Amino acid sequence: MASSRVDLDGNPIKPITICMIGAGGFIGSHLCEKLMTETPHTVLALDVYNDKIKHLLEPDTNPWHGRINFHRLNIKHDSRLEGLIKMADLTINLAAICTPADYNTRPLDTIYSNFIDALPVVKYCSENNKRLIHFSTCEVYGKTIGCFLPKDSPLRKDPKYYVLKEDESPCIFGSIEKQRWSYACAKQLIERLIYAEGAENGLEFTIVRPFNWIGPRMDFIPGVDGPSEGVPRVLACFSNNLLRREPLKLVDGGESQRTFIYIKDAIEAVLLMIENPARANGHIFNVGNPNNEVTVRQLGEMMTQVYSKVSGEPPLEKATIDVSSKEFYGEGYDDSDKRIPDMTIINRQLGWNPKTSLWDLLESTLTYQHRTYAEAIKKVIAKPVAS
Ligand SMILES: NC(=O)c1ccc[n+]([C@@H]2O[C@H](COP(=O)([O-])OP(=O)(O)OC[C@H]3O[C@@H](n4cnc5c(N)ncnc54)[C@H](O)[C@@H]3O)[C@@H](O)[C@H]2O)c1
Repeated sequence: MASSRVDLDGNPIKPITICMIGAGGFIGSHLCEKLMTETPHTVLALDVYNDKIKHLLEPDTNPWHGRINFHRLNIKHDSRLEGLIKMADLTINLAAICTPADYNTRPLDTIYSNFIDALPVVKYCSENNKRLIHFSTCEVYGKTIGCFLPKDSPLRKDPKYYVLKEDESPCIFGSIEKQRWSYACAKQLIERLIYAEGAENGLEFTIVRPFNWIGPRMDFIPGVDGPSEGVPRVLACFSNNLLRREPLKLVDGGESQRTFIYIKDAIEAVLLMIENPARANGHIFNVGNPNNEVTVRQLGEMMTQVYSKVSGEPPLEKATIDVSSKEFYGEGYDDSDKRIPDMTIINRQLGWNPKTSLWDLLESTLTYQHRTYAEAIKKVIAKPVAS
């Protein structure tokens, strides 16, 4: 498998050791799986949890046995971090608080996690001349220029006013009272710091801006494999409603527009970055699927139809209900209106394009959700409430 692999310029790919921080999360679990099944690379997997990568760690019979080692640690306070970064050729930092429900309700934790906790990672990479791939977010763009134009302005239809370009688009956030922007702002500052380390100290870096990557193992289903009062990201929120046969909650009418990409397409892009440092270093990459644009309301409607198909259950008569963002997320919430990634840079550098349609990615994801959770949910619902 390993020896015949070549990079985009035809050079043989040498096996490397990757220090992956946040390896136990949604993206990390898919990236570890890809690296174990398709490459010769070794992963030092760092996280507080490992539930989502247990299947890669446990069986001694796995062909990749010995190439992935889990280190349970919290990067906030663990002296092993620098040593692990030094042992690796490349560090990938995925660790973050990255659930919108936390941005305005736990702004301090959000800022610490996305900026302060990432600082030592950047510092150790820079001081030890180690390459860094850092996960930022499409939220760094904030709102589009277009949303400030009058509602009936024809310019709103001009891509110049809403397509998000890594090297041109401004980052437009709301006021400080709108604490929703704590996440985006912390991510932006760490991007600026990494960029400056590259410019002043020669750090070899790549910054990834994911645009709504979704798929199996994303977040948790409240009350089943996460806290019952927890509010995960939209895919898990809607999945939870569908599994419980409740109407989907649409925040502020579900009018925000998003582009969704299948996690497996996005992981292909990350693998290209890992294995083509000469093409990826010094770049910031949007990674999304501009062809899969829908409003959150349309996403809910599609998920309702797809879930009915994969579960065999008829959709509810009233499939959605409207809730205000204040009711759902609390004070200080705000949102990006629209997020369409420009793909010029990633196309030029890595020749990558997403493949999976929204319909197909929802079908495969909801098949997984139904298979994994439907029985567990029935048991939770059937349990009598303790008096
Ligand atoms: N999924 C997306 O569409 C998306 C969109 C934008 C940005 N991102 C970014 O990508 C990265 C990964 O996202 P994800 O969707 O996999 O999130 P996730 O929450 O599933 O994974 C993050 C992982 O980091 C770990 N972690 C957090 N703090 C840690 C600490 N102090 N020490 C050790 N481990 C810690 C968590 O335990 C978790 O397993 C994040 O930086 C996120 O901001 C993701």
